[in-house]
Amino acid sequence: MRLHLARRACTHQPGGFVPTNPGGHIPTNGISITFHPVALRMKAITYTRTGDTSVLDLVERDVPEPGPGEVRVKVVVSGVNPTDWKNRVGSGPGEKLAFDEVVPNQDGSGIVDAAGPGVEGLAVGDRVWLYLAQHQRPTGTAQEFTIVLAEHVVRLPENVSFDVGASLGVPAMTAHRALTVSEDGPSRLHPGALQGKTVLVAGGAGAVGHAAIQLARWSGATVVTTVSGPEKGELASAAGAHHVVNYKTGDAASEIRAIAPDGVDLVVEVAPAQNAALNAAVTSTRASIAVYANNGGNTITLDVRPNMVLNTRYQFLLLYTVGEDALAAAQQDVTTAAAAGVLEVGETAGLPLHRFPLSDTAAAHDAVENGVTGKVLIDV
Ligand SMILES: NC(=O)c1ccc[n+]([C@@H]2O[C@H](COP(=O)([O-])OP(=O)(O)OC[C@H]3O[C@@H](n4cnc5c(N)ncnc54)[C@H](OP(=O)(O)O)[C@@H]3O)[C@@H](O)[C@H]2O)c1
Repeated sequence: MRLHLARRACTHQPGGFVPTNPGGHIPTNGISITFHPVALRMKAITYTRTGDTSVLDLVERDVPEPGPGEVRVKVVVSGVNPTDWKNRVGSGPGEKLAFDEVVPNQDGSGIVDAAGPGVEGLAVGDRVWLYLAQHQRPTGTAQEFTIVLAEHVVRLPENVSFDVGASLGVPAMTAHRALTVSEDGPSRLHPGALQGKTVLVAGGAGAVGHAAIQLARWSGATVVTTVSGPEKGELASAAGAHHVVNYKTGDAASEIRAIAPDGVDLVVEVAPAQNAALNAAVTSTRASIAVYANNGGNTITLDVRPNMVLNTRYQFLLLYTVGEDALAAAQQDVTTAAAAGVLEVGETAGLPLHRFPLSDTAAAHDAVENGVTGKVLIDV
């Protein structure tokens, strides 16, 4: 309410809100009311030390101003990913943070509210999605207004919801990188880019796995995915996988070989240690295995000769260090795919949504840390 009242006395201007009548008088029926500019207030979730979710605080503070090259975004939805709780936990209690205080969460969607000097191509009122908002910065999306580098603010197509927008950053951009790092494959994704290729997505009901299925299918690949049970299998099918293999029961390698007798061309891998033998058994010559996580073990043991014979390529990837060119390519292709309706979220699209209010950010982080199936979103 306080925020609402303050906003009525202001107009949006590049560089920040400007009071419509700063320090002036509003004459009403002979009575003169003196107007004093009011600093806008907002709510934010912060932490000042590493640890479990008890380190998260809900605070109220002035709305900050964007600096050169920065954009202020009124956050509508904040997306939560494993990296957000991992950053919060750090290497353990007592680790020094890079900043005195951090607002968590890399992903989000909202509306451009102000732009700092030198920002081009974005205007106040634009609907946008955000990525890597908190990378090497203290300003994540778990707050009502956040300040983001302009290059990490992307226009959200009219037909794409804020929920999808808040689900694109980490999952879809990681999936894009994984699908564009193979030796004989494309460096960009679009319909037909993966035509004739068979892609194996490990863990197709995970957030990254879900986006990998959607992008691979959109790009024309035959998509095979592994899951641990029938419910996750249904979700992976809803996301668009052509073939679903339960890796817990039966012989996953034989099942995948029956689907792809010449082997799969590309693996999007979440659990490389556990799946090293499976991958060696199902990959084609010059296949790539794009490793984006260490779920299920930190150390891989590889049988050298079979991998050597196949010219197998292991490509590790971390979104934080892929470089600006790869990020720019990913954000363009991901936005195009989202506009084409390819990156939908929600149960019917294969990724159930779990919603939390901003004040319950701790529960949202716990849900992700506990491995909830689906996408965790915070309504800001
Ligand atoms: N490198 C990067 O830049 C990057 C970017 C995004 C995410 N990540 C990391 O990637 C991981 C997944 O993230 P997410 O958001 O997708 O998490 P998520 O939604 O929790 O999904 C994880 C999925 O992995 C599956 N899985 C685990 N072990 C498996 C195995 N042996 N074979 C096949 N599937 C397996 C799980 O399914 P079951 O439990 O049913 O097996 C689950 O569906 C996290 O560790 C995250 O930190 C890294």
